[in-house]
Parts: sequence; C-alpha cells; structure tokens
Amino acid sequence: MRLKDRVAIVTGAGSGLGAGIARRFAEEGAHVVLADLNGANAESVAEEIRQGQAKAIAVEMDVTDYDAAGDLIARTVDEYGTIDILVNSAGTSRHMTFLNAKPEDFQAIMKVNLEGTMYCGQHAGRVMVEKGYGRIVNIASISGERAGIGRTGYGVSKFAVIGLTKQMALELGPQGVTVNAVGPGPVDTPLTQVAHSAETRRAYLDLIPLGRYGKVEEMADAATYLAGEQAAYVNGHVLFVDGGFVSVGIQKE
Ligand SMILES: NC(=O)c1ccc[n+]([C@@H]2O[C@H](COP(=O)([O-])OP(=O)(O)OC[C@H]3O[C@@H](n4cnc5c(N)ncnc54)[C@H](O)[C@@H]3O)[C@@H](O)[C@H]2O)c1
Repeated sequence: MRLKDRVAIVTGAGSGLGAGIARRFAEEGAHVVLADLNGANAESVAEEIRQGQAKAIAVEMDVTDYDAAGDLIARTVDEYGTIDILVNSAGTSRHMTFLNAKPEDFQAIMKVNLEGTMYCGQHAGRVMVEKGYGRIVNIASISGERAGIGRTGYGVSKFAVIGLTKQMALELGPQGVTVNAVGPGPVDTPLTQVAHSAETRRAYLDLIPLGRYGKVEEMADAATYLAGEQAAYVNGHVLFVDGGFVSVGIQKE
C-alpha cells in the first residue's frame, strides 16, 4: 500500500476523476475526505469506500468560498488529526471564444478552477508547512499547455493552474511540501460528456498518438504517484497523461 494511513482530501470527489482518485487512494491505504459541491454524490462515493473497509467522509462545500475551504481543512484535522495530501480536482468547463466570452462566464470558470485550487491549497498548505510534510496535486489539463477552440475560459484557467502549481512548488517546497500537477488528456466523465461534441471527439482521436481517450484509472495512477513517497524529489512538475497529445505536431505526410 503506497499511501498507508495518509490523510488525503480530494476536491471534486463526487464525480469523474476526483471520485476515481479518492477510490484509488483508499485502496492504497489512505483515509480520505471527499469534498464536493454535490454532497450527495460525495457521500455515495464515501459510502462505497467505507464498504471496502477504508476510512472516508464526505464534506459538501464550495471550493470558491475561501472560508469554506478553511472549514474543510479544519474538519479534516478534527476527524483524522492531520492532513498529508490534497488533490484539487474540482473543476468546471464552458465553451467560449476569445471575442465572445462574457465577463460573468469567464469569471465563473476562473473562480472554480483557479481560485478554488488556490484557496484549498492555501489552507491545506498552512497545516502541511506547520508539520513540515505534505503533497499537493493539482489537476490541470492538456488545455493548460495547448490552446484549443473555445478554450478561452477553461484553457486559460488551466494555464493559470499550471502557473500556480509552479509558484506553490517554489514557496512550499523548501518547507517539505511538494506541489505538482497532473495534466489529463480527454477522459470520458460527466464533464466531457457535456463539453465534447462528436466533432471534438473525432478531432482528439486524430490528434492523440495513442488514438483513444484516457481512463479515470490512468489519471488516478498519476495522482497516486505524485502523492506518494516515490515522488519525493518531484516538485513543480506537470505530468501529462495524454497519450502523447502535447508532445506532437504534424502527423500527416
Ligand atoms: N474529463 C476530462 O477529460 C478532463 C481532462 C483534463 C482535465 N480535467 C480536469 O479534471 C478535473 C475533474 O474533472 P471531471 O472530468 O472529473 O469532471 P466532473 O464534472 O465529472 O467532476 C467535477 C466535480 O467537481 C465538482 N465541483 C464543481 N464545482 C465545484 C465547486 N465550486 N466546489 C466543489 N466542487 C465542485 C462537481 O460537483 C463534480 O463532482 C477538473 O479540474 C477538470 O478540469 C478533466
């Protein structure tokens, strides 16, 4: 077990990648806190984890609320005595082009994807720095490395998450807390079922050298590595799990 008795918070754990990461962490021996805006979904994943004899609690909260992020960390310390790992997976997506993006839509996406990652990271980081140990894993995206059609809000927020990851790595690393990001390629989740049209799907399959979408479990593998002891010297890194998407250019002769 790679995360035996580690205390881990996963935001966005009621669905998709966050739920998969929480399940995997529990299998690896961690005590998990599943945070999500959708408390019922988080509770149902937590219950499933408890059925598997691991420790899990669900917390309904909004990552965009600075005080709620503080309460999440306080609740975790209250329940398990400490916090070792934070995964920021809560996220949202909206299609918007640069010239047509409405301020309220742009701000809404930046609030969840960037500010949510920052506030949870700040509160968790303070506890981790205090004890001189911690692992923070932010869920970025290939859209944070390559511009894409309609990605003015989503992609820009993920570029910012990658920047924030590096800033956090610089400031927290010397104090025993590593901060890294997973950069997933497309994965079938409730988010992409809405965000990806049939045309988008075909385009991705053409552009990804491995010719397929990623799996939730493959993202959970990457998060487990970055959250564990084998990644002790990895800091400020973005681990793209994308079938080669960000590495390639022209693919036709
Ligand atoms: N699915 C993909 O293809 C893909 C690719 C790259 C990156 N990502 C990133 O992975 C992360 C998870 O995405 P997913 O595909 O699992 O999506 P999802 O929609 O299945 O899950 C996202 C979860 O975040 C929660 N959430 C949203 N806003 C919140 C808030 N303000 N406070 C607390 N919780 C909130 C939702 O309730 C939901 O349970 C996101 O950051 C996303 O950008 C996903």
